[in-house]
Amino acid sequence: MRDFLTTGDWSRAELEGLIDSALRFKRGDEQSRPLAGRSVALVFFNPSLRTRASMQVGIFELGGGAVVLEPGGTSWTLEHRDGVVMDGDKTEHVAEFVRVLGRYCAGIGVRTFAALKNWEEERTDPVLAAFARYSDVPVINLESAMHHPCQSTADMMTIREKLGMGRKRVLMTWAWHPKPLPMAVPNSFALASAQMGHDLVIAHPPGYELDEELIAEIERQARAQGGSLTLTNEVAEAFDGAEVVYAKSWGSKKFYGATDEDVKARAAYRDSWIVNEDKMRRTREAVFMHCLPVRRNVIVTDAVIDSARSVVIDEAENRLHAQKAVMAKLFGK
Ligand code: CP
Repeated sequence: MRDFLTTGDWSRAELEGLIDSALRFKRGDEQSRPLAGRSVALVFFNPSLRTRASMQVGIFELGGGAVVLEPGGTSWTLEHRDGVVMDGDKTEHVAEFVRVLGRYCAGIGVRTFAALKNWEEERTDPVLAAFARYSDVPVINLESAMHHPCQSTADMMTIREKLGMGRKRVLMTWAWHPKPLPMAVPNSFALASAQMGHDLVIAHPPGYELDEELIAEIERQARAQGGSLTLTNEVAEAFDGAEVVYAKSWGSKKFYGATDEDVKARAAYRDSWIVNEDKMRRTREAVFMHCLPVRRNVIVTDAVIDSARSVVIDEAENRLHAQKAVMAKLFGK
């Protein structure tokens, strides 16, 4: 039994295989229905458009049925910590929740964002880890505190689709946003880019460094796959020669749990860290990518996101094909 928790658990060859499969699904060359007569549970602690809709459609197209649950809404509130006395507001433990679902379903997808309260705890992905620990069926990470592997697989597919195979110069740029956001998307995009052997540049203001252990792993992967990693605080120069521009905002570890302090610190970067036409002109006609949802004229100007170089809608479509490939791999005979 295999889970899909982070691309880091999968080899480059396996990721390339998933992208090949996703492209076959997209072309209509792959017609397998590995979920015929079976169901997949989708557990959403947080809101979603793309992930929820593309998983439901993907499960249907693979012949199965989706059971969508929202703990605390359409299902009981959930405790994930082991050994706690459950005399508070949590009604059911993950230990029973996932094992019961495993008796009905071929697999479980779960979305559980970082609460942005306690960095040392959240960097260990405790809720996702509890799901994986107790589940007897494969678990798919639909975005956790630290990773969003379905997004990054679709992102790597989109880069291959738009620019072809091989090593590309990929810029992931931090962007100003009115409030701190989780790091799952930038973590997973950077990790998958390194696994695919791209030349990755990560640009962010001082104080917005990603997790040190993860950066070390990204550097190791980049070296092993023949790519490179460059970290910079120089936003405009970072665009020079880029073939892919991936914009994303995230919160500072330094101010984790202290939103007001982060909001004050990031105010200085409001005008300088938006993706605009001036910056895009420094690239080698780069494609513009964002996982969505995106705040227009905050993260990226209308002119860039509405330009011919913007691939954000194709990128969102590719979520469907990439997740069908993941499910076909996990649930196929
Ligand atoms: N990109 C992404 O995961 O979108 P949703 O939050 O709408 O699912």
